Amino acid sequence: MSVSSEAAVLDALRPIIDPDFGKSIVDLGFVKNLRIEGASISFDIELTTPACPVKEEFERAARERVLALPGVDSVDVSMTANTRGRAPTQQSDVLPGVRNTIAVASGKGGVGKSTTAINLALALSRTGARVGVMDADVYGPSLPLLTGVHGRPRAEEKKIYPHESGGLKLMSMGFFLTDDSPVIWRGPMVHGLIRQFLTDVVWGELDYLIIDMPPGTGDAALTLTQMAPLSGAIIVTTANDLSLIDARKGLAMFDKVQVPVLGIVENMSYFTPPELPDKKYYIFGEGGGRRTAEEIGVDFLGEVPIDPRVVEGSDKGRPIVSEVPDSQAARAFVEIAGRVARRLAVLAEGAPPIADANITWVS
Ligand SMILES: Nc1ncnc2c1ncn2[C@@H]1O[C@H](COP(=O)(O)OP(=O)(O)OP(=O)(O)O)[C@@H](O)[C@H]1O
Ligand SMILES: [Mg+2]
Repeated sequence: MSVSSEAAVLDALRPIIDPDFGKSIVDLGFVKNLRIEGASISFDIELTTPACPVKEEFERAARERVLALPGVDSVDVSMTANTRGRAPTQQSDVLPGVRNTIAVASGKGGVGKSTTAINLALALSRTGARVGVMDADVYGPSLPLLTGVHGRPRAEEKKIYPHESGGLKLMSMGFFLTDDSPVIWRGPMVHGLIRQFLTDVVWGELDYLIIDMPPGTGDAALTLTQMAPLSGAIIVTTANDLSLIDARKGLAMFDKVQVPVLGIVENMSYFTPPELPDKKYYIFGEGGGRRTAEEIGVDFLGEVPIDPRVVEGSDKGRPIVSEVPDSQAARAFVEIAGRVARRLAVLAEGAPPIADANITWVS
């Protein structure tokens, strides 16, 4: 029986193409720790994000291809990830240790920005990524309600320690508000608070920090876009015309500070009655988010349906991705999270993103 060589194993894996980079996983250097012990072969495939939606396909294809080599009896593939982002050595006093900072914004209030932020965070965290959420909304912080976590975070020697719940690190203006807190925040106070959130919170090592942006394109939002090293922004909108106009304003704000807009999420797109699971009623009209995205030249990240369980879950501190993971809404958030993670990985490599590439196999 012939025993395979390292070159033969790599040749077997070479036809597996990463759809985002358009290159072989071998040439990209994703195959690591290759070990050949007689008829047993083991190796790691190190992805650029744990949220890679084609993880399972890579794993299966790799196993099948190597198992098909003559003289191979067993194949052990470990899927790992080293999230791309800012180089870990690029330390600064603003969010050190955070590889990707994602702003979730909207031009207008009440479109589901906070809902999107927390559910994307949970979806990314489920893949094994280290995730934090920062609720930078001074006027209407919603993270305490959305997660059921309350109370002042521990502070020591000018450092603030985020709360931890459901696998996420959490920081919110809401954790600090008391009955004595001002109802109206003056500009410099907001500025100061945001700076503290960026420099004094001990986030540790994070693959993704999701920032629930202050609403609109006002002072607080602007301050944050200028002070935080944002890797990219997501604009949440609903399908009706007015909120699409506002989405454009949001886009302009990020353009000004040269933060790439990763795409548009259309929330509350359609309704599927429980008794008609194949129907989609587009109450506010169909395709508005996608059209706006095309017009402005950004990606359309997905449609999230209206689901009363989103509201119920939020009120209980159990967002839909953890409460009803099988629901269409939860699955939409998981897909959007995968797209966002891939875009960020590609941006970090400096390569142009490939729109909605499906996995391609070269045989
Ligand atoms: N897909 C959905 N289906 C049903 N209800 C939803 C959905 N998305 C959001 N909601 C509900 O809509 C309301 C507004 O959502 P959310 O608080 O996330 O919006 P927001 O943009 O953060 O608002 P604000 O501008 O006040 O910060 C909440 O009650 C939320 O539970
Ligand atoms: Mg909100």
